[in-house]
Amino acid sequence: MSAKTGTISLGGNAVDMPVKSGTIGPDVIDIGKLYAQTGAFTYDPGFTSTASCESAITYIDGDEGVLLHRGFPIDQLAEQGDFLETCYLLLYGELPTAAQKADFDYRVTRHTMVHEQMARFFQGFRRDAHPMAVMVAAVGALAAFYHDSTDISDEKQRMIASMRMIAKVPTLAAMAYKYTIGQPFVYPKNSLDYTSNFLNMCFAVPCEDYKINPVLSRALDRIFILHADHEQNASTSTVRLAGSSGANPFACIAAGIACLWGPAHGGANEAALKMLSEIGHVDRIPEFVKKAKDKNDPFRLMGFGHRVYKNYDPRAKIMQKTCHEVLAELGVKDEPLLEVAIELERIALSDEYFIEKKLYPNVDFYSGITLKAMGFPTSMFTVLFAVARTVGWIAQWKEMIEDPTQKIGRPRQLYTGAAPRDYVPVGKR
Ligand code: CMC
Repeated sequence: MSAKTGTISLGGNAVDMPVKSGTIGPDVIDIGKLYAQTGAFTYDPGFTSTASCESAITYIDGDEGVLLHRGFPIDQLAEQGDFLETCYLLLYGELPTAAQKADFDYRVTRHTMVHEQMARFFQGFRRDAHPMAVMVAAVGALAAFYHDSTDISDEKQRMIASMRMIAKVPTLAAMAYKYTIGQPFVYPKNSLDYTSNFLNMCFAVPCEDYKINPVLSRALDRIFILHADHEQNASTSTVRLAGSSGANPFACIAAGIACLWGPAHGGANEAALKMLSEIGHVDRIPEFVKKAKDKNDPFRLMGFGHRVYKNYDPRAKIMQKTCHEVLAELGVKDEPLLEVAIELERIALSDEYFIEKKLYPNVDFYSGITLKAMGFPTSMFTVLFAVARTVGWIAQWKEMIEDPTQKIGRPRQLYTGAAPRDYVPVGKR
């Protein structure tokens, strides 16, 4: 049987391009030789039709609302597993056995402390610095503290750097939070599981005991699972592009955190909660829906729409359930923001504009309300996303570095600037 090809015809010159098929999902036309054969580039701003790499980690079917990690549906992982198990799966490709899980959990737990000098590094920031600004700097600075795991050609060092980041990013995130509120840093506690330890580092104070609520710990663990990876999104592509130059892994993850901060990406949970507060009451929803539909108004319903999902985001369903569980556990009744969110979702899902454009709530729509109820300030929302996504970035970065065909990422462009012209000395301009 002959291999599939696609033909591109340009100025009477027809060239055959190989077509590659994945396990599931759309085929891709391999245009790697297009320029050599036709002298033309392809043009796809925002990569809406372009696969940038081969990957065996995560699969999304946006039309059907499907998200799989290494083949496992996100709802099964979120409801039956824990976050560190998902980390293991993303990194190693299979679910761990009980012994492998115990060993992995132990290794992550033993790496949670950061170099004591990091504490002094924090003192250089203003107390009102956004914790994402602190995270970009602190994670990048890990390269300066852990020189012995920056050689990307050494498999062992790659794995040590990976474990260090999965373990230390939560510690840095909790330190960023404590710093902004002027409380002392809380050291990690090895007797606690990953997520309970994170809650403890964020909310414990030296003057009294902090009792971890297992319902909240489980809910946050589930939120981490929901955010662990999402194939070639903007921050992951940033990590891959940064890593393609051979940059050290700490620098690459810092680049990913910087990208995640944007309101169209990870910053959307913070923006969604702000929007719900601004709406304030269900009576004002029609006014905001009208603004979102107005072409001349840049306002968008935050937490709605997704580049890939043109159906209900599968993570949003679990997030909504988690939100109700957390509010019930905390005895939050008549939370006005939840009331606004439920009504806004109902109205938007029955509105022609949103139906036609296939705009559904995404994972960020309910996560803000949940995190707020747990006691996190809005400025920490994207930081929590970064804590969870660190493993996805690392798994994708490792996959890229270990791919023998990997090259530096270097997109082309359509140049629309001035044609060649001669320099005019300043006195003659
Ligand atoms: N509210 C109102 N209209 C919208 C919205 C929205 N939230 N999202 C998209 N549209 C409209 C948009 O105006 C455009 O209309 P038209 O075709 O008439 O010009 C159409 O829908 C398509 O939008 P687009 O911007 O071309 O789509 P995109 O794939 O480039 O953008 C998005 C995806 C997520 C950036 C966008 O939907 C958005 O800005 N949503 C709000 C921010 C948000 O919630 N982001 C979180 C994403 S999920 C978490 C993550 O992965 O980081």
